[in-house]
Amino acid sequence: MSHGDKSLELPFVEATQGNNGFDISKLMATTGDTTFDIGFANTAVCKSAITYIDGDAGILRYRGYPIEQLAEKSSFLETAYLVLYGELPTQEQLSTFNDDISHHMVIDERIREMFRIFPRRSHPMPVLSVGVTALGLFSEDTIGFTEEKLDAATKRLMAKLPTLAAYGYKNSIGSPTLFPDYSLSYVENFLRMSFGSVTRPYEFSDEVTKALDVLLILHADHEQNCSTSTVRLVGSAQTNLYQSIASGINALHGPLHGGANQAVLEMLDDIADRGISVQEYVNRVKDKNSNERLMGFGHRVYKNYDPRAAIIKKHADAILRGHDGNDKLLDIALQLEEAALNDDYFIQRKLYPNVDFYTGLIYRAMGFPTDMFTVLFAIGRLPGWIAQYREMQADPTNKIGRPRQIYVGEKERNYVA
Ligand code: MLT
Repeated sequence: MSHGDKSLELPFVEATQGNNGFDISKLMATTGDTTFDIGFANTAVCKSAITYIDGDAGILRYRGYPIEQLAEKSSFLETAYLVLYGELPTQEQLSTFNDDISHHMVIDERIREMFRIFPRRSHPMPVLSVGVTALGLFSEDTIGFTEEKLDAATKRLMAKLPTLAAYGYKNSIGSPTLFPDYSLSYVENFLRMSFGSVTRPYEFSDEVTKALDVLLILHADHEQNCSTSTVRLVGSAQTNLYQSIASGINALHGPLHGGANQAVLEMLDDIADRGISVQEYVNRVKDKNSNERLMGFGHRVYKNYDPRAAIIKKHADAILRGHDGNDKLLDIALQLEEAALNDDYFIQRKLYPNVDFYTGLIYRAMGFPTDMFTVLFAIGRLPGWIAQYREMQADPTNKIGRPRQIYVGEKERNYVA
């Protein structure tokens, strides 16, 4: 997507002059061969040095490092450090970062108590957002925007989000919470707090720990999507980091943003339950008169393939086949992928599996219910949200956000008594 300055300015001037007959297709025509994305106008423009995406070539890089290399060689905390601070950490920096995170994993007892007031079975995502807002109330680092305070808030949030997430999950199933265990890694700790209990220790599997670590890396940032631009917009009013991140969590909770992998699972379950063949389902998707849709295919940014999907597909097989040897839904997913990738209808429309196509299957095999899928997304996305917030605060030219509006309402009218 390229937006030359000239192509954007003229239509905006015309469009904001109260033209009732505003026609988006005319606006698109005036922009020549530049695609005018109405969503782009909604979120406004920003400069960022964190994540590079080339949607045509299927490239995703954090701070210049390709996602494939990070997923293979790095850990989530190392990638988080890179996203947050711009450079890969030295061994010593990584070990200090790890220690800082471990040190802050416990949450204040009063916040832990707070979980008892939520109704049983509350969705863990709004609970997470409330938990993050509450963290701000219990932290000294919410006032002022010094580097030191922002860094303290960064580490607190990175450390405590998995604890809050696990507590929200335990609350949703009516189970008692566990304290973090400092001897475990970031991901292990989260798995144990989510699935372990005092009487039944969580049984770790290297495949599950590795796959979850990779999934968090793949979600660490994705430039100006709905939740990230929300964090920036809310933060541009100098709202503190905790409240801005809570806003991002709320945005991510919307089904159109964080709910895609759940929709994929529902589609796969539906195909399995109805006992229809994959080809029949594909035919229905192509039929204009049918409501069937191919969930988890295509992406607003990627026009050839989503590089995250290719990485996670490898882990899907290891986790799902290991899970029960023969995974019916994975088989349907693989057949769907093959059928779609070899069908002109989908090829012409540039529809190929995106990251959400496999993540739901993997999370479910790990034992997470669908309500936890967006929570896992939020844990992964946290470094990106924080980095974007800090980048914006560090920019002296930054102003409070104010997305442009295109007025399409009535012209002036007279109030006649
Ligand atoms: C994301 O990772 O945030 C999603 O793919 C949505 C997006 O970037 O538009």
